[in-house]
Amino acid sequence: MNEIKQYAEQWNTSAQFFYEKKYYQWMCEKLTGFKTVMEIGCGTGYSTLALIHSGHKVVAIDKNLECIMAAKKLIADNGYTKENVIFLEGDVADAQFREQTLSKYACDIVICWNVGSYWNKQMIQSYVPYMLEYGLNIDQIKENPESSYSELIIWDACRISNVKGVPIHIIDRSGEIINEDTDPYFHALKDEFHFSKIVYDNHRAKSISSGGRVLITSGKVNHEGLVDIIFISVLMK
Ligand SMILES: C[S@@+](CC[C@H](N)C(=O)[O-])C[C@H]1O[C@@H](n2cnc3c(N)ncnc32)[C@H](O)[C@@H]1O
Repeated sequence: MNEIKQYAEQWNTSAQFFYEKKYYQWMCEKLTGFKTVMEIGCGTGYSTLALIHSGHKVVAIDKNLECIMAAKKLIADNGYTKENVIFLEGDVADAQFREQTLSKYACDIVICWNVGSYWNKQMIQSYVPYMLEYGLNIDQIKENPESSYSELIIWDACRISNVKGVPIHIIDRSGEIINEDTDPYFHALKDEFHFSKIVYDNHRAKSISSGGRVLITSGKVNHEGLVDIIFISVLMK
């Protein structure tokens, strides 16, 4: 099985678990009042399904075709159509995709939930020029490829929301809670992209560490079955 397909299958296990535990429902509650959502990295569609259930229209983007195919099937199996969601295959780090494709779609908010996954070293290497442009140096990238990639995608998501002039909602999995006092990182993004306000929230949860993205908490790889995590929610408007 190729790695892209393997990634999609593994992530699907995690996402289904999140869906059953109603974690996506908690994420959707942060989006009240925003009708059309541009979802960056929709994965295999469980987050998209929760968004539709919550009354949103979705423009769902993923660079992994296997994920898009699984997401399309999940949405169709639940009786939803193109009226509810448009799927776009593409890479948000690619300026051409952002400028020529994403620019055609309007939205009221951009979301970036649990993105930052990669499936092998070659893949991450192809993003080094983008990570350098973002402002990291080679040592930082080598030392922590996972969070370097994650930062790049969150930065690209902020660029998209900035061009569209809409808020952004970010969810990440963390080992620690986030608030005004413990967050220099999103604060810097808020200043860079001229958002006026950040609303934080945290949700203690469980995650399947063996499925989907390997969980790294405070620099340590976690291979246990179910692990404690905190979903951090950052809404910048
Ligand atoms: C861990 S999954 C999360 C899926 C969904 N947001 C959720 O919370 O269930 C991350 C998804 O982001 C996608 N992704 C990662 N980097 C991307 C990029 N540069 N452009 C578009 N999609 C990307 C991956 O292919 C994967 O399907």
